[in-house]
Amino acid sequence: MAVRLDKVLSELGVASRRELKQIIKAGRVSVNGQTVTGPEKHVDPDTDEICLDGEILRLRRFRYFMMDKPAGVLSVTEDRRQKTVLELLPPELKRLELFPVGRLDKDTEGLLILTNDGDFAHRVISPKSGVEKRYRAEVEGIPDEDDARAFAEGLILADGTHCLPAKLEITGGSVCFVTVMEGKYHQVKRMLASRGKPVQRLRRLSVGELEIGEDLGAGGFRELEENDLCKVLKGFHTVN
Ligand code: URA
Repeated sequence: MAVRLDKVLSELGVASRRELKQIIKAGRVSVNGQTVTGPEKHVDPDTDEICLDGEILRLRRFRYFMMDKPAGVLSVTEDRRQKTVLELLPPELKRLELFPVGRLDKDTEGLLILTNDGDFAHRVISPKSGVEKRYRAEVEGIPDEDDARAFAEGLILADGTHCLPAKLEITGGSVCFVTVMEGKYHQVKRMLASRGKPVQRLRRLSVGELEIGEDLGAGGFRELEENDLCKVLKGFHTVN
């Protein structure tokens, strides 16, 4: 389907519509090898080869990013008063209509995936997909083998909520690692609190086999490639 060139480029997050007019007029964009200077030119994003400064643009409808969410920001798309994770992105990515895949609490840090692919998000979040989310928790008290057994059996929280069996790795100190396949409200905090080990600090380390590491730094992000997405869904996902 033919779409205006500036619209296609803007949806790709290349620049704003106004900046794109300048970029196109300056002769920096080509379509199928021909330089184009009119932003109104219609192109077919599925079949035309569009280049900016000689580089082929990847015309991908769906985009995926990982962010090292800092504490103190909300993992929602907008909020009137408080800062959101989307505000940490540069302006050109704000146009992609990304949203967080599941939520991390305001004070939770670590791996947050952002995408505009609703099906992908659903698959990552749904406990049926069996995607494991692993957290590092610093708690009051020292989690022990009894706690690990209770996690493995499936905890029942104070309000009667049943949790699926989960993994608790103990270290002999106040740091422990929790792996869950579901994402109920404040789940990890409530699980540990139910064992008398309230959480002081929580960081998500991985989703599926995709790990955050320490390289991005708080608030840092990077685009995910197909191999990253395969790690998230362990090979069940095919991109676009
Ligand atoms: N569990 C929690 O309690 N909080 C989070 O942010 C994520 C999982």
